[in-house]
Amino acid sequence: MQIKTELERLIRQACENSGIDAGEIRVAEATKAEFGDYQFNGAMPLAKKLGQNPRQIATRIVEALPENEILERVEIAGPGFVNLHLSPGWIARQVEACAFDPRLGVGTRSEPRRVVVDYSSPNMAKEMHVGHLRSTIIGDALANLLGFLGDEVIRQNHIGDWGTQFGMLIAYLEELGEGAEGSLQDLEEFYKAAKKRFDEDEAFAHKAREYVVKLQGGDVRCLHLWQDFIDKSLGHCEEVYSKLHVRLTREDVRAESSYNDDLPAIVADLEAKGLLQTSEGAKVVFVPGEETPLIIQKSDGGYLYATTDLAAIRFRVSQLGAKRISYVVDARQAGHFRQVFAVARMAGYAPEDVRLEHVSFGMMLDKNGRPFKTREGGTVKLIELLEEATRRARKAITQKEAYGPEELEKIAEIVGIGAVKYADLSINRESNYIFDWDRMLSLEGNTSLYQQYAYARIRSIFRKHGSEAEPAPVILEEEPERRLGLKLLQLEEVLQAAAQDAMPHYITSYLYDLATLFMKFYERCPILRSDVPEERRRSRLVLAHATAATLRLALEILGIKVLERL
Ligand code: ARG
Repeated sequence: MQIKTELERLIRQACENSGIDAGEIRVAEATKAEFGDYQFNGAMPLAKKLGQNPRQIATRIVEALPENEILERVEIAGPGFVNLHLSPGWIARQVEACAFDPRLGVGTRSEPRRVVVDYSSPNMAKEMHVGHLRSTIIGDALANLLGFLGDEVIRQNHIGDWGTQFGMLIAYLEELGEGAEGSLQDLEEFYKAAKKRFDEDEAFAHKAREYVVKLQGGDVRCLHLWQDFIDKSLGHCEEVYSKLHVRLTREDVRAESSYNDDLPAIVADLEAKGLLQTSEGAKVVFVPGEETPLIIQKSDGGYLYATTDLAAIRFRVSQLGAKRISYVVDARQAGHFRQVFAVARMAGYAPEDVRLEHVSFGMMLDKNGRPFKTREGGTVKLIELLEEATRRARKAITQKEAYGPEELEKIAEIVGIGAVKYADLSINRESNYIFDWDRMLSLEGNTSLYQQYAYARIRSIFRKHGSEAEPAPVILEEEPERRLGLKLLQLEEVLQAAAQDAMPHYITSYLYDLATLFMKFYERCPILRSDVPEERRRSRLVLAHATAATLRLALEILGIKVLERL
């Protein structure tokens, strides 16, 4: 249930009742407690449109509100703001209805829609880098979220496994023979060594170029070497996925190479549709409003990144049936996607009812605001970064409690990986992201540890109580109870908005508010103390239970685990 939708329905009804042609009605959460719980600010623009006094319009709407159980009080403030105060009784009934539901009252789409989320998508000719870490974390959260809300999500790992570099890499792989196994342990070194051979030895370079041609011509031995190399590289990525508890599998890999056979057809099709032009020997499409055209085929006959992406869109729409395709890729590729999307529309690969979106994100920077590098200036190895997260988490938590070695290892992993993911998800993805160990592992502020701690604290209440919460009437007499109850009911509208805008940080902000409201509630409203009347205790246990269940569900959607003890 979404409160906003319910309130908008009431106001729309009121406008109809009083003969006001309102158009779209938007209700927003109140910006300050004194403005009520929600606000309708539409009376002013409406008054302007109708040439009337805004307070009068607001009064007419308020007086025409239909009989309902949601609103306790409505007041008109300032020039015509309508402040909506929700009834504690209504909130309480809703909390009772949702608290023990496995989905906490969140509905699913009645008509599921296919959605493709393209994320992670590293290049096999380079080590996976921090940009791919962000894509992997944000993309996985988005895929989980859309799936939870009832979409049929198809994850696509569009790995870069094709291009001229692979001639060099497989030539080197062959040269190493038996020794290749060890060298592939460190891919970065492997690329460097191959490049060195290429630059220094003309015979090797010649062979590498020959291998590119052979590979493209389908030479079995070259394909074999190439496949072997891709397998090893993917294995490295999978290590990262597994450490991150990310749900990408081999089945989700649809590599660039898988579109090879479609590329000539794309060129022919664009040609037939009259979209192709020749510019400096290359085949290009001019997109209205863009300065430079999108290159489809180079003068030497080679295809480009964009050509493959066009083939992929066509495949995703026509074969996978996608109605929304979300590309979780860093902001530097904005121009690429703008042009590719435009051409896909012009060519009819993506009709208007298919939503194409670039879910772009900013750079990962170090504490000093510089691109994230090792102390020596090299690229940071993701697997080492994640191992360091666990190491640092272990230190952060052992300062607090004594754990057995095995338990400590498990907790450190959940806390460390959770911190890396949450820190990334909790900022607006479009901004650059400052990677700061101390902040992400802090117990204070909007961090995963703060949420995990709130969850564990609630679980400890139930341990002390000796049993789980049971359904009971919820009483919201004290303000902290009422505010917590209301926050609990906002889960669905937050999830829906985050899915609509592909903005995971809406969820983390909500969780931060929720955990903070719980702490305030817990300070002011004792639960287990002997002087608390039984019916109050039962009601408060329901609130505590619903809070823990909400934290757990939302963190799970984000790909972050909780702990029973911390
Ligand atoms: N492989 C690209 C990179 O490493 C990202 C691919 C994103 N997906 C896509 N369909 N273009 O930057």
